[in-house]
Amino acid sequence: MTEPIIGQTREQAFDIGDFRRALGAFVTGVTVVTTIQPDGSPRGFTANSFTSVSLDPPLILVCIAKTASSYAVFSQTRNFAVSVLAEDQKSVSGVFASKAADKFNQVAWQARATGAPVIDGAAASFDCTTHEVVDAGDHIILIGRVIDFLHTSSSPLGYCRGAYVNFSLSQDALAAAGSRAQVGAILEHRDGLVLLDTPNGLQLPTGNKLEPSSDAASLRGVLTKLGLDVHLDFLFAVFESGGGQTPSVQIYYRGRVIDSGAAWIDSAIRIVPLMQIPWDELRDPAVRSMLERYVRERSEDAYGIYVGDTEAGTVQTLALAQ
Ligand SMILES: Cc1cc2nc3c(=O)[nH]c(=O)nc-3n(C[C@H](O)[C@H](O)[C@H](O)COP(=O)(O)O)c2cc1C
Repeated sequence: MTEPIIGQTREQAFDIGDFRRALGAFVTGVTVVTTIQPDGSPRGFTANSFTSVSLDPPLILVCIAKTASSYAVFSQTRNFAVSVLAEDQKSVSGVFASKAADKFNQVAWQARATGAPVIDGAAASFDCTTHEVVDAGDHIILIGRVIDFLHTSSSPLGYCRGAYVNFSLSQDALAAAGSRAQVGAILEHRDGLVLLDTPNGLQLPTGNKLEPSSDAASLRGVLTKLGLDVHLDFLFAVFESGGGQTPSVQIYYRGRVIDSGAAWIDSAIRIVPLMQIPWDELRDPAVRSMLERYVRERSEDAYGIYVGDTEAGTVQTLALAQ
C-alpha cells in the first residue's frame, strides 16, 4: 500500500505546493472559458475547475484566479461559454493557458447564442448567462446558467497531477500485447449489453487485434460483420489469461452501439438488460468477473481500469499522460 503524505495541521504553515499536489490527485477534464469583452474582442483562458452545479435550473461553475489577466473581464461579464476540450486539443489548452495576445487567431471558433465564442471540435460546450459571481479567497467562482449546449462523441481530454490524460483507446496497451492480444468490447445498446450466442456459450465480441474493419479477424471486422455500428469509448480492462508460457493478454474496451435504426443485425446477437445477464451461460470466469465489475460500476456510474491477472486483480487508474 502507498504511504500517505499527511498535510500539516491548522497551527502549522500550510505548504501550498503540497496542497496543490494533493488537489492534483483529483482527475478533471480541461475546458476553455470564453467571453466577448466590451470592445467586442474575444477573451479566454484554460480552466480545469469546471464543475456541474445544478440540473434545474441548469447551472455550472468555473473558478478564476484573481491574478489572471482576464479576471477583471470575467468578473464583470454577463455571458460566457465553456468548451470542454477533446483529447486531440492539448495544443488548444496550451494556447489558452498562455498570455498570448492572439489566442483566438490560433484556433477555430464560433460565436454561440449569447455571442460568447465556442472552440470548434470541443467534446461539449455550454453557453451561459452569468448567474452569480462569488468571491472565494484568491479566486472568484463564476456560476453560469446554461442556455444552450452541444456535445459530440469525441473523447474528452483529461488532466491529473499536472499532466494530460488520454481516456480513449490505448494504443500503448495494444502495442504491449502484440500478437498475444485478444481484443474485446463491452457494448451497450440502449439499456442492454451486447452478447453473442456461440457453441461455447455466451461471449463478448472479440478479435485478434483492434482494427481494421476490413480484416474479418479484428474486433472492428467482427463488429462490422455482425452489422453493429459501434463507438468505442474507453479502455476498461487488461488482464492475462490462459496461463502457461505464453498467456494471452485480454484487452477490453467499453463502448456503445450507435442506434442507426439499421434493419439488420446478426441473429447471434443477444441484447440482455444489465441486471438480467445469464451469468451461468458465460463460461470464461475472467470475463464473468470483469462483467460483474462492469455491471456494479455501471450502476454506480464510476469506472476504474482493471489491471492485473485473473486471480488477483486490482483496480487502478491507467493514466497515460503524454
Ligand atoms: C490544465 C490547466 C487548468 C487551469 N485551470 C485554471 C482554472 O481553473 N482557473 C484559473 O484561473 N486558471 C487556470 N489555469 C491557468 C490559466 O489558464 C492561465 O493562468 C492563463 O494564463 C490565464 O489567462 P489570462 O492570463 O489571459 O487570463 C489552468 C491552466 C491549465 C494548463
